[in-house]
Amino acid sequence: MTEVSAAPIAPPWALLAELTHGCPLHCGYCSNPLELVRRSAELRTDEWADVMRQAGELGVVHTHLSGGEPLLRRDLPEIVEAADRAGIYTQLVTSGVGLTRERLTGLTDRGLRSVQLSVQHAESAASDRIAGTRSFAAKRKAAALVREAGLPLGVNVVLHRDNLDAIGALLDLALDWGAERIELANTQFYGWALVNRDRLLPGREQIDRARAVVEARREQLAGRLDVVWVVPDYIDGIAKPCMGGWGAVSLTVAPDGTVLPCPAAATLPGLGAPNVKDRSLEWSWRHSPAFHRYRGTDWMAEPCRSCPEREADLGGCRCQAYALTGDASRTDPVCRLSPDHGLVRTLVDAPVSRAALPTVPRSHPPRGAPQGPRRV
Ligand code: SF4
Ligand code: FES
Repeated sequence: MTEVSAAPIAPPWALLAELTHGCPLHCGYCSNPLELVRRSAELRTDEWADVMRQAGELGVVHTHLSGGEPLLRRDLPEIVEAADRAGIYTQLVTSGVGLTRERLTGLTDRGLRSVQLSVQHAESAASDRIAGTRSFAAKRKAAALVREAGLPLGVNVVLHRDNLDAIGALLDLALDWGAERIELANTQFYGWALVNRDRLLPGREQIDRARAVVEARREQLAGRLDVVWVVPDYIDGIAKPCMGGWGAVSLTVAPDGTVLPCPAAATLPGLGAPNVKDRSLEWSWRHSPAFHRYRGTDWMAEPCRSCPEREADLGGCRCQAYALTGDASRTDPVCRLSPDHGLVRTLVDAPVSRAALPTVPRSHPPRGAPQGPRRV
């Protein structure tokens, strides 16, 4: 692996620590890769503790302890403690399944600062159906435990055609459960979500209805509930600065120690992503070819290269460009100016009866799922 020398690079603000790909849920919108890391290949406790030490030295201020379901790691308190010792703010990103008062106390005693809880739908039966397992009751209980412990609670909802019409009820649920923040994240089509894209993709009218509800209620909820709407880039035709830019704000460590600019980057061929077992986090961030590959704007081709938006959206998402065209260096096809935008328009405008399509549940190992990039 060759090294890239470069001008000084600002430290990462956040570390997404994917502690495991194991998960009790089977959501079809999951952005985890199809080739999930086996439990036996996960980093050990001492290796994660060292990742946290290095992250603190590198300047990381916030870590999302995620997965899969991070509560499956029995050593989660030790990992939280290592992050806290490194001066990093810790947030648990969880389905809530497996969270007990005892476990939460063990985590808060070691320095856990906040919890983000995933919710699939505001109605119990629909939520369980989307999650592929009974989990709604455990989520409600987990929310109560988090509030009882005095920790800030955020609710995260991945939006798609099966829950977009429940957006008002989801806002009510977040208030009722004592959340301070709700993130309404329109599905990003990577990993399992890409396999299920035809089933999950909403129509424009459904998005417009949901957006109108969010806009109408956001002001009314100001000061009580922070409402974040992650744009549906397929529908809007506007590229997003994915992850705040490649190698700009955040880095991901996968369960087996692979260091990535974003969780989906594992799918990009020839990336040569480093691993914490071989290289320091500092080297990976500052010098690895993988992190330099799409950093900044020098790598861009037209139309991005001469576009006035290039510093703002950084040409969109590299993983999406790869998923749709097989070439990660092309302009993100969601952008109206992309020569490949027709691929997205065809999907969004297709008169498909999606409700009849089956969902491929996220599973370990994957069942019946195609591998590699999908041309549309
Ligand atoms: Fe952004 Fe590139 Fe589209 Fe311009 S052409 S808006 S830089 S994605
Ligand atoms: Fe990888 Fe957008 S998900 S760059």
